[in-house]
Amino acid sequence: MCRTARPRNSRRWKAASVSSDDTQLISPSPDEGHCAEMTMVCLADFEEYAKQHLSKTTWDYYAAGADECCTRDDNLLAYKRIRLRPRILRDVSVSDTRTTVLGTEISFPAGIAPTAFHCLAWHEGELATARATEAVKTCYITSTYSTCSVEEICAAAPNGYHWFELYLCRDRKLSEQIVHRVEALGYKALVLTVDVPYTGKRRDDIRNRFKLPSHLRVKSFDGMFQQQAGSQEEYGTPANTLDPSISWKDVCWLQSLTQLPIIIKGILTKEDAELAIEHGVQGIIVSNHGGRQLDGGPATIDCLPEIVDTVQGRVEVYMDGGIRTGSDVLKAIALGARCVFIGRPAIWGLTYKGEEGVREVLQILHDEFRLSMTLSGCRNVAEINRNLIQFSRL
Ligand code: LAC
Repeated sequence: MCRTARPRNSRRWKAASVSSDDTQLISPSPDEGHCAEMTMVCLADFEEYAKQHLSKTTWDYYAAGADECCTRDDNLLAYKRIRLRPRILRDVSVSDTRTTVLGTEISFPAGIAPTAFHCLAWHEGELATARATEAVKTCYITSTYSTCSVEEICAAAPNGYHWFELYLCRDRKLSEQIVHRVEALGYKALVLTVDVPYTGKRRDDIRNRFKLPSHLRVKSFDGMFQQQAGSQEEYGTPANTLDPSISWKDVCWLQSLTQLPIIIKGILTKEDAELAIEHGVQGIIVSNHGGRQLDGGPATIDCLPEIVDTVQGRVEVYMDGGIRTGSDVLKAIALGARCVFIGRPAIWGLTYKGEEGVREVLQILHDEFRLSMTLSGCRNVAEINRNLIQFSRL
């Protein structure tokens, strides 16, 4: 296995976490006292590290948005437009950040969104991500585009809470085989990504001629394609692997194959939320694919209220896109998300220190979430509601 990330500077970095009682706990570092280190305080520090240490092509791939990146950028900016209405004098000396998703307890309402090719960021790839989420006790949505196999991922984190992100292939047999594999392995839900009938136009990937390096493979598809010499490749699979004819009928087809709960990822409107419920899905992820697909669509946090209002608690609503701080998590939960999922920040954590780096990213987000929750006057997740949001800003 080879490590693709490489240092471009000599600055030293370490992680910091803030405990619930506000005591600063600086992680021990073997180099302590020997050199000036940059302390990792927030997710943006991991981003800076990753930008300096990943190859340009890999950085550009993960950072990419579609076209002019308006939607990608608005995912973050939209949180800054929302203001909180904190309540005071509520005895927040004891707090609890746990919640449940599909009935399973997680340590706080944030998990890992599916992102591709973790071996580009760290030599152990998705194995490190899976171990980190198992340690932190949260949900990891494994991408179809993983560079470790689902068997390897489950073996690395046998007690992890795993959902699998499915793309629908033109050759339904391929999708069917993957569904049976992950169901047999103990994955707890299928997350059907519905916003990639075609891949969005990511300008830097085109300029860089992005290609998965030859030592890496999309292991979910191992042995499934007869590779034809000279055939076009897109993101580690033959071009046109995914099916642009995907429609609601395929949700019914998927239900006929599996007992697993089905969650639809990529819903942005109340109309589609209603259709998802009519089709009997168990969950919805409000997502615009990190702004990598349709540019000009809305920020996910801006869509969340209309979808939550339509769903009226009939299924759980989750969201991803733009979460960078604990108060972003708080705002999403206050607007009705059951849980949020982080994409790029997990990649930055992986780049920093593999499993340990992802754990640190999740720990910092968890600590920040607890702090903003209690500073808002909430002792637990059940006490977070829309009264926390200043509606004049919405
Ligand atoms: C991407 C695909 C693989 O966004 O989901 O790169």
